[in-house]
Amino acid sequence: MTFTSSISVDTRDLSAADGLLILAGRALDKLKTGDVLEIVSDNASAQHDLPAWARLNAHRWLGTTSNDGRWRHRIEKGSALRVLTDRELDWGNRGPIKDGRFDTKHWLLGHAAQIRQTAEPSHGFAPRGASVEKGSPEFPFDVVDRNQAWSEGAAEFYEQATAGHWDGSRDIPWSQLRPLDEDLERAVCQLMTFLAENEFSALYVPAKWIARIHPHFAETVLFLATQVRDEARHIEVFVKRALANGGGLQFSSASTQASLKTLLDQEDFVQASFMLSVLGEGTFMDLLRYIETHAPDPATREIARRTRIDETRHVHFALDHIRSVLRSDSSCKAKLYRAIADRASVLSGMKGLNPLVEESLVILAAGGLSPERLPLGTKARIQLYETMHENRVRRLTAIGFADREAEELSQLHTPNFM
Ligand SMILES: [Fe+2]
Ligand SMILES: [Fe+2]
Repeated sequence: MTFTSSISVDTRDLSAADGLLILAGRALDKLKTGDVLEIVSDNASAQHDLPAWARLNAHRWLGTTSNDGRWRHRIEKGSALRVLTDRELDWGNRGPIKDGRFDTKHWLLGHAAQIRQTAEPSHGFAPRGASVEKGSPEFPFDVVDRNQAWSEGAAEFYEQATAGHWDGSRDIPWSQLRPLDEDLERAVCQLMTFLAENEFSALYVPAKWIARIHPHFAETVLFLATQVRDEARHIEVFVKRALANGGGLQFSSASTQASLKTLLDQEDFVQASFMLSVLGEGTFMDLLRYIETHAPDPATREIARRTRIDETRHVHFALDHIRSVLRSDSSCKAKLYRAIADRASVLSGMKGLNPLVEESLVILAAGGLSPERLPLGTKARIQLYETMHENRVRRLTAIGFADREAEELSQLHTPNFM
């Protein structure tokens, strides 16, 4: 009996145990149901193993012929799929690599480019674009809506973040630290303590949301992972600066802790991102610039400069994210407004900013406790608060709040800065 084979594969002396079945299986993968595969073999065991294997995989065994001392086995491909999914695999798309670079924003190829309105719970940890086997378990991610989780700019911000990572042990001029006037050193240490506790919230809040955002929105998750990495480095350098020059960590106030806890308590990703990054980290950019301007030593100056650059990225990512949320759902503006007002009422019973932090800002700008210079420090601190307010209003109007709303929201923002 003769057969027409769709393709033929030469398996030489391979047995079922050392590669024959891989070659046969891969060759069948390329065929359609009803096509015939010819397997040429020099191994006598194949005539026993192949028929059993074909039946097990729901292919039709067509028999064996032999000539020239070689066996020719034939299998007709059955309709059972090796992996049962709802679609074919992608193939043949090539990433646009330019000058040796493959930018993350260019990985939108084939099905990986299809951003769903709602992510599929059973797609779980499968990378977007993979063909997922039916029967995969459902994952409990609760940020599954494109409107909440997707942001056009995330891939670009992710790229900037990976290029911008620095090393807190080596990139700060630690060896240039010299003993400072004790009051000034104490002020620096108090500010570093305050910065570090705020940075812990900036690490924990995105870390909490990473675990809840569906991996379908990978760009957002990857960017937040870089933010967590950045905040870890910020905690590191602020704590190190408090310890490096003979001072030490100072006071943490109940009001600061209360303010930061309200960020962690948020149960809505967009609200959390708005509060932490647009309002909080936005305000921190001005605080870090102030510390950079008035820093009494090169290490403190470089710490403030580098962390401010990272914060700028976090703020711009959040502005891009919130802007795109508001574009797709205009009712969200009222929700954000309510969330800020609610937070303000929760915090209304607490004192303002930790007074030791406020004084430290004055002492830093005055360069110490000299009575001649303290008024200058006070003036600088007042100017800082005005700048923080103006810049918050500017950011809020840039993402679509009316002037009056922006003004009110900025006034409602926590006195703790973050
Ligand atoms: Fe930070
Ligand atoms: Fe940050």
